[in-house]
Amino acid sequence: MLLVDIQNNSIILHIDSILARLVKKENKGPLEIKVGTKSVLICMCGLSSNQPFCDDSHKKTADEENNKTYAYEKEGDRIEVKNWEVVY
Ligand code: FES
Repeated sequence: MLLVDIQNNSIILHIDSILARLVKKENKGPLEIKVGTKSVLICMCGLSSNQPFCDDSHKKTADEENNKTYAYEKEGDRIEVKNWEVVY
């Protein structure tokens, strides 16, 4: 079971018997890869719902401040994260 509580700009992650991963991404746009005459955009922000391809969700990161950490909820809402606590 994985439960994420978002309280007071903090994330408390409760992990019980499954492997889960929080991955910090700093890129705010895709990586363009040219294949022959075609171009493919690979998601580097981690927010695309069409991984590994970019679906323009990175636009949500445009006004992120460089020295802050954010988390995005499934619905796309963003919160600033100030404290991370992992509970086993
Ligand atoms: S780079 Fe992630 S959605 Fe575009």
